[in-house]
Amino acid sequence: MIQSFSKVNKIKGELVLQGDKSISHRVLIFTAMASGKSIIRNLSSGEDVKSTLNILKNLGMDIKIEDIIIVVNGCGHKGFKKYNGELDCGNSGTSARLLTGLLSAQNFESILIGDESLSQRPMQRVIEPLTFMGAKIESNNKKLPLKIFPSSLKKINYELAVASAQVKSALILAALHIDEESQIIDKFYTRDHSERMLNLKTEVLDNKKYISVSKKNYPQNSEYFVPADISSASFFIVLALILKDSELLVKNISLNESRLGYINILKQMGGYIEIVEQKISNNEPYGDLLVRSSKLRNIDIPDEIIPNIIDEIPILAAAGIFAYGAFQIRNAKELRVKESDRIKSLCANFRKLNLLVEEYEDGFRIDGNPSRDKVQFESFSDHRIAMTFSIISLLLNGGEVKEFECVNISNPNFLEQIKSIIS
Ligand code: S3P
Repeated sequence: MIQSFSKVNKIKGELVLQGDKSISHRVLIFTAMASGKSIIRNLSSGEDVKSTLNILKNLGMDIKIEDIIIVVNGCGHKGFKKYNGELDCGNSGTSARLLTGLLSAQNFESILIGDESLSQRPMQRVIEPLTFMGAKIESNNKKLPLKIFPSSLKKINYELAVASAQVKSALILAALHIDEESQIIDKFYTRDHSERMLNLKTEVLDNKKYISVSKKNYPQNSEYFVPADISSASFFIVLALILKDSELLVKNISLNESRLGYINILKQMGGYIEIVEQKISNNEPYGDLLVRSSKLRNIDIPDEIIPNIIDEIPILAAAGIFAYGAFQIRNAKELRVKESDRIKSLCANFRKLNLLVEEYEDGFRIDGNPSRDKVQFESFSDHRIAMTFSIISLLLNGGEVKEFECVNISNPNFLEQIKSIIS
């Protein structure tokens, strides 16, 4: 489906967004593992989270939607049951990687599959360390489909080789089934939702984070409130910063430090973003963010912050083309193996705006003024690319985005939310 956008002059108002995608996947997995009844409020209804939910249902999780709350009856120590079909992760890398960790520890065989894009994404990053733990996994040339066999797992002492919270969480999920304590070392400071929600012991030594995990940390039933998705918020925040005379309040947003990278960059670029109130739920900080129109200038983006802004680089680049100076990202090769090759996707669309685009193996540089002609952008079926160029269309003289429906992966309410704040 092709979605058209007209130019917008100003936005004003408040947004209440759905639950964070990363936290939603984890809440579902942990409540499915726990014994007894858990309650979840504000779960993401994006397609990625539905993929995790459907797989857990196939494995025996009992779930009921009661008005706006979700009640999960976890499988607990009676365990998950074998599913006699393929478990479909759709487009969701988080489902595929985290569930590979969980399924490696089960006493039955499972098959994980995904859509065309996910079937091209690397899985060796989880297969390798899980194999060190004793897991038996067969792959299609290190990609999906994966066949996961029963095995007897042993503890691991492992330093992450790739800056990936998905790999870290897959290992945590496997280690939760082992009596002896495993240690996972994260020098990249990737998002830490799993550690926080499971209350894992973490220590920093020589600038590296050491995470200890064993069966003692096996999840228990609980009540969860999922703070709103800070990555979904990034599109509206950039829109509010660039438009004149605009102001936006984003409510109950996740303020986990490992997700605040792009907010810090936008602030350093001159953006007015203020945390109005901070609260905490299940060890996860959240609160309201007030954003006001600002004049932005591009800055040097340090290499070490890349793992913390990886999902927001597309929309940061959009902010960059309206900011003073050139926008440049390096050390971000990981972008090439996201839902699309995001370096290629971004550069192709920026070229359509007649910008000066230089593409590098690990990033890109954009300079010049965007053309004001109406452009048709490609989404490459990648939700964050679709939303980035929707925002650019609203800021220029309108535009179109192809295969727009992929926004449902993370935010099915994107269009209504935009409409609700146009003033
Ligand atoms: C996620 C981690 C990140 C991120 C993805 C969600 C998670 O991926 O890009 O959207 O929930 O753990 P990597 O950990 O592979 O970088």
